[in-house]
Amino acid sequence: MELDNVTRPADQPQPLSDEDRCFLRELVETNRVDHHGRLSYMDIMFDLEHHYGNSLPGPVLGEVARLAETSPAQLNGFVTFYTMLSTTPRGKHVIRVCTSGPCHVSGSPAILSSLRRLLGVDIGETTPDGEFTLEGSSCLGICGVSPVLMIDDDAYGNLTADDLPRILDAKRSGGAQ
Ligand code: FES
Repeated sequence: MELDNVTRPADQPQPLSDEDRCFLRELVETNRVDHHGRLSYMDIMFDLEHHYGNSLPGPVLGEVARLAETSPAQLNGFVTFYTMLSTTPRGKHVIRVCTSGPCHVSGSPAILSSLRRLLGVDIGETTPDGEFTLEGSSCLGICGVSPVLMIDDDAYGNLTADDLPRILDAKRSGGAQ
């Protein structure tokens, strides 16, 4: 084991490897080409979250800021503006329960409390096995089928608490339903 891994607390981000730097350089340059010389920061952040397990480690953002020729503070301001982006480690799957008006009146509080009970975590927390992070969210844009939640990129509507064990089990086993 590297000395680095022995002495660094578990919650501290690892420094960038050569492989990371190479991946980030290619990601930013491909994004720049795809957007005709400009950068889509949101696309970059989604790609980074997929690669780094649903979070955006500080050293990664610092390197992206350098490659994008912007300041780390500016990039951090972008990341913290959007609640779907996170700089803190999250689980393998991120559950976002819509808590905006239409979902609230059609049952999102009951959905949230069932999820809290089933997962044993509160909003903002990750299950001990690292599978799920539970989050609240503003409108997810599909109010017609409220109450609604998303797990990763999959949306589930017209939910009842009875649907949740099946949905969680399917996600645990790698399915979308
Ligand atoms: S209010 Fe919940 S999806 Fe719009």
